[in-house]
Amino acid sequence: MALVTKSIKGTQDVLPQESHKIQFLESTALEIAGNYGFREIRTPVFEHTELFQRGVGDTTDVVQKEMYTFLDKGDRSITLRPEGTAGVVRSFLEHGLYNEPMPQKLCYLTSCYRYEKPQAGRLREFHQFGVECLGTASPAADAETIALANELFSFLGVHDLELQLNSIGCKDCRKEYHKALHDYFESRKDELCGTCQERLDRNPMRILDCKSPVCAAIAKDAPKVLDYLCDDCRAHFEQVQAFLRTMGIPFTVNPTIVRGLDYYTRTVFEFVSTEIGAQGTVCGGGRYDGLVEEIGGPHTPALGFAMGLERLMLLMGAQNLPFPEPERCSLYLASMGDKALDRAMQIVAALRQEGVYAECDVVGRSVKAQMKYANKLGAKFTMVLGDSELDGGKARLKNMDTGEETEMTLDTFEGDFMRLSISESLKELEDLGVDTDIDVDAILNSTLF
Ligand code: HAM
Repeated sequence: MALVTKSIKGTQDVLPQESHKIQFLESTALEIAGNYGFREIRTPVFEHTELFQRGVGDTTDVVQKEMYTFLDKGDRSITLRPEGTAGVVRSFLEHGLYNEPMPQKLCYLTSCYRYEKPQAGRLREFHQFGVECLGTASPAADAETIALANELFSFLGVHDLELQLNSIGCKDCRKEYHKALHDYFESRKDELCGTCQERLDRNPMRILDCKSPVCAAIAKDAPKVLDYLCDDCRAHFEQVQAFLRTMGIPFTVNPTIVRGLDYYTRTVFEFVSTEIGAQGTVCGGGRYDGLVEEIGGPHTPALGFAMGLERLMLLMGAQNLPFPEPERCSLYLASMGDKALDRAMQIVAALRQEGVYAECDVVGRSVKAQMKYANKLGAKFTMVLGDSELDGGKARLKNMDTGEETEMTLDTFEGDFMRLSISESLKELEDLGVDTDIDVDAILNSTLF
């Protein structure tokens, strides 16, 4: 096949065989976040470039090297979002959400774009589930936000993820730390990469997360931010840890975590796995008490996290964790001839209106080929309609799992089929040990149907 073009390097298609898994992750994430009071926010995939320059920081790798930036036809500089936080904060300000009761708890499922070197777990288009909690400086909010990420991982059965915690202080305590870093790196300036040499005077902390192996080796012995925290930041950090202990959430303090984005203050954290290769950070986040002001709003302490859905999928794959099975076709209604197809279409339409996954022939296949297709679909029940079934008003419904056949009256088929398939589902639940003292007729007569 001579394709005109293939997909862009660092992007991934989600095929139908996999899409139910990602749907499950997304709906689970939204549901658990909902239990913590987070409501979904959706922001555009592109924003004015300056939002990220100001918000994420123009000395970060993300802004300096990785953004997809272009001029639109009106000569405006536009950037595909490299992360979700800046856009959420922009929207929070633009729509006056700071006038609403605080904290504002917002969550999102979003695609992000970074021009990085693709490898396992590192893509140029990737997807995040993120949360942002705006309008609270309390360490209880830090602990609650971390607990949410932790609960999602636990619910999915993900294990052996290490929660690594650090505090990178506030603007005030950072001044002294920057000086110490500057002094340290100045002595080895000639060995640093060109970008880091420039960062030395503007933002020496960014040298700590440079991806160049030489800079990373030099950064290993650099002064640690925890030694430079002011009293307030230290107390805040200790309270966050105390809350986590109270909630029984294990963590380790890793004083080398500084995160790759400029907006962070105080608490920063990552959930790290050793099972998915070099890109083991499945979730990262922290506090950003100055970002809302940086973008032009009132002082609003805030924090959040984002987890990479592709990395989460990789990890769940590595740990062989189960996903729910995709929904199975309940009924394939095969037909022979136009009249039978007409009736089949009516029945299938009526069942679909009741929420049943049902199919009939839309290809024009022989009955034999239709049954082969029904088998491939994994249909639970099949039934064949032909002239004799239409004339006699009866047809045989076959349970494809047991081979059992039941004669059905066509005039009452929809209701009878619903009753039968609900009974089957209850039987399956009973087989799983669930107590199902349920009246099928009551279900059918309820407003649901
Ligand atoms: P981040 O650490 O840049 O933070 O990204 C969060 C997560 O997105 C990472 O832990 C990783 O799982 C995933 N991720 C990042 N880059 C890639 C990539 N190239 N390919 C695949 N997955 C990737 C943020 O984006 C912050 N906005 C998080 C945050 C929200 N902080 C506060 N609120």
